[in-house]
Amino acid sequence: MASLGLLLALAALSLALLLAVPPHHELSYGFQRNTTATAASLPITPADGLPYTRRNIHFDSHGTTCDAWLYTPLPPEQPAGADGSGGPAAQFPVVIMAHGLGAQKEMGLHRFADAFAGAGLAVMVFDYRTFGGSDGEPRHWASPRRHLDDWRAALRFVKSGGLGPEYDTQKVGLWGTSYAGGHVLVVASEQAPGSLAAVVSMIPHLDGVEASKASVRRRGLAASLRLLGAGIHDRLRAAASDLLQRIAAWLHAQSASQGAMLDQAPPYGRNVSTVGRTGLKGLVSEVDGRLRQALLALLPPVSSWPVLEPAYIKVVGLVGELAIMQLSPVQLMAYFAKHPTEYEGGWRPVILSRFTLETSSYSPIKSVPRVTAPVMFISALRDQLCPAEQVRKAAELLPTSNNNSRGGSSSRGELVELDCTHFDAYLGEHLVAATESMVQFLRRHMQPSAEVSVPVSDAMSE
Ligand SMILES: *[C@@H]1O[C@H](CO)[C@@H](O)[C@H](O)[C@H]1NC(C)=O
Ligand SMILES: *[C@@H]1O[C@H](CO)[C@@H](O)[C@H](O)[C@H]1NC(C)=O
Ligand SMILES: *[C@@H]1O[C@H](CO)[C@@H](O)[C@H](O)[C@H]1NC(C)=O
Repeated sequence: MASLGLLLALAALSLALLLAVPPHHELSYGFQRNTTATAASLPITPADGLPYTRRNIHFDSHGTTCDAWLYTPLPPEQPAGADGSGGPAAQFPVVIMAHGLGAQKEMGLHRFADAFAGAGLAVMVFDYRTFGGSDGEPRHWASPRRHLDDWRAALRFVKSGGLGPEYDTQKVGLWGTSYAGGHVLVVASEQAPGSLAAVVSMIPHLDGVEASKASVRRRGLAASLRLLGAGIHDRLRAAASDLLQRIAAWLHAQSASQGAMLDQAPPYGRNVSTVGRTGLKGLVSEVDGRLRQALLALLPPVSSWPVLEPAYIKVVGLVGELAIMQLSPVQLMAYFAKHPTEYEGGWRPVILSRFTLETSSYSPIKSVPRVTAPVMFISALRDQLCPAEQVRKAAELLPTSNNNSRGGSSSRGELVELDCTHFDAYLGEHLVAATESMVQFLRRHMQPSAEVSVPVSDAMSE
């Protein structure tokens, strides 16, 4: 009886906490995944006339299935007269790619993968758990910790030969943009020297503390606290929902064991001498037991106990809105310009609000001094989200042993600076320039023997 009281008190307490942080009209609640197939899951076949094929593949990340595109270059045409039984088939080096905060593979990553695959590299582009074609609930759980785990799972999958014998497990590169530009640096810093062929970190998120300071400067303290409040609100709802489910399960277990106990006990009054000895006590105990049994029988089944839908915050919004990234109307248009017309999984520009509690302590720049693989940084000089000065600083933090040597002269990392804003780096001339540099860099480090040159700008006309 005491533990039942305790649980009810805990339930009351959690409800009180929920009320203390009332639902915010700028947040949304719940997210229904849409499993209808979209263009993102259509394969690309040789009939499409491209120099590669693309199919969807899957790998496991911590018990959840992640969806990925696998681009495979078409084998070079055999010269006339060759019977195909010549030397051993070459293996394709593999570039692993994933998107930035709240985004999924169909949002502009095809353009980069198209250029890399056109240059003879296999490319695996994956969706984080709970995004796009990947499984996992609650949907749109953006989290540096979880995304890093997905990156590690993707790398393990490729390195262990999960793609098949025609893919080279020794020549693997990582490519990440924006939030993922930081993830690839963290994951690269954990690998043994020589185990990664190349890393591309494009307009990367590097420093959570600096990003938070800049955010507070831009929005003001009150708006910044509202961001944190949204995160606490979502966490509390998740905790309260979990607690309610546990209470429901516990009460049902009680109900079952109470019933079993009463069925075993001798019914009251059958043995007169027992009544004589335990008297009123026995009566009270039995009535109490029967009452509890009756009450517990009225319990709704565990599955119909209320579930508090998680709270979602906008990942992009206009200046003044409660959103992770506040953009001008022009920048907001640039953000959506790289998107498809139909979103896989029923994507909306929202993520779980609990993200706001995790991001300020996430600073991939701390990992940079331990990255031994060759790195190419791309920065945007007018980037307000991931400032170019930080990227320059990161390039200088690469260890002196970092071997990026290009024909003898060694430099620590390569840095390409684009004269544009964050989201403009995915569009037009900036996209072409960035992609051209990346293709050259990746070929140099992953396919040193390749001698054909692929015109990048043609590959971009999609
Ligand atoms: C009634 O209780 C007495 C004393 O506890 C016991 O000896 C006796 O066997 C009981 N009779 C029945 C029918 O249970
Ligand atoms: C699910 O997605 C498909 C394809 O994008 C769309 O036609 C359909 O309306 C969506 N369903 C819901 C319930 O939103
Ligand atoms: C750096 O790379 C070049 C070319 O790949 C190689 O010849 C050289 O030995 C490497 N240097 C170090 C210190 O690893």
